[in-house]
Amino acid sequence: MFDFAPETDAAGPQLYDSLVEAARALVAGERDGIANMANIAALIWQFVPDLNWAGFYRLIDGELVLGPFIGKPACLRIALGSGVCGTAARSGETQCIADVHAFPGHIACDAASRSELVVPVVRDGAVIAVIDLDSPAPGRFDAEDARGIEALAMAVAEAI
Ligand code: SME
Repeated sequence: MFDFAPETDAAGPQLYDSLVEAARALVAGERDGIANMANIAALIWQFVPDLNWAGFYRLIDGELVLGPFIGKPACLRIALGSGVCGTAARSGETQCIADVHAFPGHIACDAASRSELVVPVVRDGAVIAVIDLDSPAPGRFDAEDARGIEALAMAVAEAI
């Protein structure tokens, strides 16, 4: 059994420090990327409040393909440049979207989603996946969340 529950009063950077530390411990010694992504999605779900979706899209043969996640069933494939995920994957830049309805081309996989954070995972200088967090709360994500998930992406890039 793994028990990586966040401290109840942990917030902001502290919460993400614990999340990254837990992720490093979980992926250490496991070489299967799918297994590692599944556990990381579960960790994000456990640590980060107010989410309705958390998981991975992998960049395979020039398009994003759904990976391990927690939440409702989601779009299987997303073209590069399409939606929030495709924009993050093509640009290599984090997308922190306060209001998904105002994002041109947003792909609504779960109608409950109101805000979204998508962080590219980069290995050897190339985007290999994105980490996608959705929230039913408008403006749920800020720069601290973005830095935290970016730290997570860097910590697990070799393990997925
Ligand atoms: N909203 C995303 C699609 C993926 S789901 O949110 C899980 C997008 O616009 O790329």
